[in-house]
Amino acid sequence: MSDTQQPSAELLAAAEQYGVRNIARHVFLCADQTEPKCAPRERTLEAWNFLKRRLQELGLTAGERIVYRTKANCLRMCEQGPIAVVYPEGTWYHSAMPDVLEQIIQQHLIGGVPLADYVFATNPLTADE
Ligand code: FES
Repeated sequence: MSDTQQPSAELLAAAEQYGVRNIARHVFLCADQTEPKCAPRERTLEAWNFLKRRLQELGLTAGERIVYRTKANCLRMCEQGPIAVVYPEGTWYHSAMPDVLEQIIQQHLIGGVPLADYVFATNPLTADE
């Protein structure tokens, strides 16, 4: 680890390896929580493992339009989980188990259209205007 403010070669390599410049969407999923509140930990882990596997299988983890995924300990909604949120649209989903995640992947992450049946909030993030 360096104490300068410059990014290290290792850090830049990680950004390159994970295709940061090609991230088109970023999905966060509440899983493996320290304090499981929105769903039992085993169910959220099942959802997380499914999401990881399907993004890989569908070729969405590399290329020109990457879907980046992050396991969040808790997204602070803590009801009707697993909870997922997709950016840049700021689309919040409840009940994100594999059957629902598959629809989110196909319809939203690939197709660009949020899966209205499971959306409970929407707030696209925008830069200051
Ligand atoms: S425990 Fe899932 S949102 Fe808080």
